[in-house]
Amino acid sequence: MYQIIDGKEISTQIKNECRDRVAAYKEQGVDICLAVIQVGNDPASSVYVNNKKKACEYIGIQSLSYELPEETTEEELLAIIDKLNADDAVNGILVQLPVPKHIDEDKIIRAISPLKDVDGFHTQNVGALCIGQKGYVSCTPAGVIELLKRSNISIEGKECVVIGRSNIVGKPMSILMLRENATVTIAHSRTKDLKEVCKRADILIVAIGKPEMITAEYVKEGAVVIDVGIHRKEGKKLCGDVLFDDVAPHCSAITPVPGGVGPMTIAMLMKNCVDSVEIRK
Ligand code: GUN
Repeated sequence: MYQIIDGKEISTQIKNECRDRVAAYKEQGVDICLAVIQVGNDPASSVYVNNKKKACEYIGIQSLSYELPEETTEEELLAIIDKLNADDAVNGILVQLPVPKHIDEDKIIRAISPLKDVDGFHTQNVGALCIGQKGYVSCTPAGVIELLKRSNISIEGKECVVIGRSNIVGKPMSILMLRENATVTIAHSRTKDLKEVCKRADILIVAIGKPEMITAEYVKEGAVVIDVGIHRKEGKKLCGDVLFDDVAPHCSAITPVPGGVGPMTIAMLMKNCVDSVEIRK
């Protein structure tokens, strides 16, 4: 029988730990504030941003909300970021991605002070992660590590295959698994014999963005499978990159969609906000 890794439960644990830490900081007179900026009104982004604000409220972090119109210029957005960078009362700055096409996303990420980059997207934080120095780590991959550790799944010495090489998930994910002493392979759309490569994995982390692409043929008997994908099927049901019913019987542990990796992203964002007190010192 396989173990279902319960991301809802684990994310709640982490949020409650954050809430306790925030309360302790408050007693010392230290308040935490996250600025959340959304440009335009993409419905999916609005849902994410609202969930982030709700999590802040639950934990006791103040959230400053900037809901900017689609026509906002790059200069206007940069001016707001500059102001927030300079504001000592602001711990974290998050610009919800994607931004409208007329705004250069890289330029925006670079403009955020690395000490307030709670998304962990700034090159300085990515670089720090690569060489094992302190900094913010991208929330979704950091959440996967917490899922594994808190489910008592050992990583050291394991064969890990990460499918996907995005800057936000695949690349930082592989570095984090390396840091935990796994033997890591990064696979992607140009990988030859993807099935054979995936079948080597003791831990298979899937972030390809293709609904239910990974079937039992890709999975070694007894593997741990982590599904980072989230898609809405016809009829509104959610699914991941993994065909769950086909794959699960072959696993020792697997994350469901929804309720696996998804809730971890916001929990780790909250943890980064709380960690910002130490990181900014
Ligand atoms: N868009 C989709 N995921 C994320 C995220 O984790 N952070 C930000 N800022 N934008 C996103």
